[in-house]
Amino acid sequence: MAESPRIAIYPGSFDPITNGHIDIMVRALTMFDRVIVAIAENVRKAPLFSVAERRDQILDAVGKSNASRVEVDAFEGLLVDYVHKRGARIVVRGLRALADFEYEFQLAHMNRRLGKNVDTIFLMTSEKDFYVSSSLVKEVAQFGGKVTGLVPSSVEAALYDRLGRKNEDRVASPEDSTVSDVGRQRKGEQAEGTRRRRDRVRRR
Ligand code: PNS
Repeated sequence: MAESPRIAIYPGSFDPITNGHIDIMVRALTMFDRVIVAIAENVRKAPLFSVAERRDQILDAVGKSNASRVEVDAFEGLLVDYVHKRGARIVVRGLRALADFEYEFQLAHMNRRLGKNVDTIFLMTSEKDFYVSSSLVKEVAQFGGKVTGLVPSSVEAALYDRLGRKNEDRVASPEDSTVSDVGRQRKGEQAEGTRRRRDRVRRR
């Protein structure tokens, strides 16, 4: 009798997907036959990107070589119900620093308590990603900092687009040699807008 495929559900807000998420997804693919990236629709946070946008960003990041083994889906309601519905029992989550542990510990135990035989496995994030989170990336982009290398380039562009900043207005990171004067000037003009956007992000 043929074995059924090993399926992992990789849930999250993915608002937006980061290179840390991609790393976890790719590593999960070495352990499972299929990975279902599941965008949670009803999390408490007000998202910056719609589910459709996040789905496209994730599909883009998956790449052709993994496309046949990755599905991107969205779910509402309890994660355990979704996992059960998809005929899976393993949830994959990335674990960054100590700060993640308590939250993830609660989540995993609550999911176990809810029944349906769902178990969570944790993959430690790679060293290069251990401090990267979607919310930090949004905050950095919001204030004009560079997020190059932390998210796929298409997501980087979408972030600046959504947050109303042009790439040339970004504050340079230490490795940049110059900051454009136009950028500096515009930053002054945009200060009011930035303050408004900052307030919006803080409310998230
Ligand atoms: O990327 P995030 O925001 O840390 O992901 C959290 C997520 C979406 C995995 C979690 O909030 C979740 O599972 N939400 C679905 C609703 C649910 O099942 N809540 C109870 C889990 S204890």
